[in-house]
Amino acid sequence: AIERTFSIIKPDAVAKNLIGAIYTRFETAGLKVVAAKMVQLDQAKAEGFYAEHSERPFFKALVDFMMSGPVMVQVLEGENAVLRHREIMGATNPADALAGTLRADYADSIDENAVHGSDAAASAAREIAYFFSDEEVCPRTR
Ligand code: CMP
Repeated sequence: AIERTFSIIKPDAVAKNLIGAIYTRFETAGLKVVAAKMVQLDQAKAEGFYAEHSERPFFKALVDFMMSGPVMVQVLEGENAVLRHREIMGATNPADALAGTLRADYADSIDENAVHGSDAAASAAREIAYFFSDEEVCPRTR
């Protein structure tokens, strides 16, 4: 089925000038960008996004990293988009990521791992709504 998923190009990858390279991976895989913007996260926005991790030992470092520079946030649409996007990203820890995935190619560590993607349809809907209004998501009819 056609799905939507939520994607972040994290501060490390933006700083390395990889926005276009990463968008090319999405588009080559058949995922269409239906919403996108650059944002500088503040503490409240970053903590709210990662609220499910608030008790984890890496939470403060994660929030600090996500505030360390601008991020690109986007909604990707396509067949089986949630899983497809996760395949393109590769494993959370780049040491475990398959060759040719974004994290294998562009991430330096599990903490600075270049990209985020929703892990399921329910989290995709929540994450999209956390960053985008309905009017900011554009249907792609051609
Ligand atoms: P992300 O998909 O953005 O979701 C939470 C992030 O926490 C994850 O990517 C990693 O970058 C980061 N992180 C750091 N340490 C860990 C860990 N041990 N397990 C999972 N995520 C971690």
